[in-house]
Amino acid sequence: MNAPLGVAVAGLGTVGCGTIAILEGRKELLAARCGRALEVVAVSARRADKERPVPVARYRWHDDPVSLAAAADVDVVVELIGGEDGPALALTRAALEAGKPVVTANKALLAHRGGELARLAEANGVVLAYEAAVAGGIPIVKALRDGLVGNRVERVVGILNGTCNYILTTMREHGRAFADVLAEAQALGYAEAEPSLDVDGHDAAHKLALLAAIACGTEPTFDALHIEGIRAIAPIDIAFAEELGYRIKLLGIARRTSHGIEQRVHPCMIPRSAPLAEIEGVFNAVQVHGDAVGTTLHVGPGAGAAPTGSAVVADLCDLARGFRAPAFGVPAAMLQAGEPAPMSAHEGAYYLRLMVDDRPGVLADVAACLRDAGVSVESMIQRHRATTDQPVPIVMTTHATTEAAFDGALAAIGALACVREPPRMLRIETL
Ligand code: HSE
Repeated sequence: MNAPLGVAVAGLGTVGCGTIAILEGRKELLAARCGRALEVVAVSARRADKERPVPVARYRWHDDPVSLAAAADVDVVVELIGGEDGPALALTRAALEAGKPVVTANKALLAHRGGELARLAEANGVVLAYEAAVAGGIPIVKALRDGLVGNRVERVVGILNGTCNYILTTMREHGRAFADVLAEAQALGYAEAEPSLDVDGHDAAHKLALLAAIACGTEPTFDALHIEGIRAIAPIDIAFAEELGYRIKLLGIARRTSHGIEQRVHPCMIPRSAPLAEIEGVFNAVQVHGDAVGTTLHVGPGAGAAPTGSAVVADLCDLARGFRAPAFGVPAAMLQAGEPAPMSAHEGAYYLRLMVDDRPGVLADVAACLRDAGVSVESMIQRHRATTDQPVPIVMTTHATTEAAFDGALAAIGALACVREPPRMLRIETL
């Protein structure tokens, strides 16, 4: 048996403790599978005296996480501190510069600085591994980068945020409003007290930036992403989606187009028959379309101590076994800048809901705006009859058009006097 791999863990929150629980609970099994033991030798966190689900007193304690990088018995640093800069960045840089591989779950760090850190890792001859950063327990980094290495990947589509998927599922199942479900999810501990990272789409966007980088051989370019969250989704839109045969999901989509690479996170209407429509609650899923394999679907828990710890341990085992792959699938020097496709060039069908006066001529005015923008209507629902001054909904779906044309129609429609609330739109994805 080879010498043990000395592991330092920085950050002892949910994922840190989940990782240690697996490393300690499966010690012999992992040693047998890797041909060497994986030994936690040192840890660091903000507070030493905190109650934790795993005992950590047996490990050497470092107040300063960055000092882990210099310790002689540390062969690999596990960065689970989080955040796109601060101690997470300082530790990652220090470890790579010291010639030590880094395993991280830090999607924000890599979405913003993945190119720089991949170059630093390669310059120092070490691995930067991040399976736990994308979709928790689903081994999607390995699947996309290694298992599907023989493919030109045309499209990656994912449900990448369990909190949003849980909220949308609960809203649909119980006909409840976003704010109400979010408040309950926070009370139950399913959603963060500060939920914007999740519900405004940024967490999913961090993950998509990494998947897009692997799929397209580009540097992660978080700033190029189009991002919308789920706050504006109303129960009425969920009900209309059902009626039209769709389901609403927050998707991250990376796609090669003739205009460049689309990278977008926003709520979508997808056919109820699509496999992704069946992914409910806190689950994540990623659908990959490769030119050789066709379509593959990867489903599993996207968060939690044991699932995310499982992904961290997988990276550690790769290191222990001597497996090496470039962080984003090609050597860092070959990563392309990646031409981002403008959203105005996006082509697809749209759902549109208007709250309008119930009187003759309204539909003609709306139709004229669509006609003038060159947008073709596929279907329409208007069945309520106003008994008071209350506006009534008109719902339309369009044939495929460009976002630029649809935006033009939307601006004109929104300016009509008969339109009483800002129009709501959702992009329809056929997948
Ligand atoms: N907060 C994320 C989610 C998990 O709700 O899916 C960590 O990225």
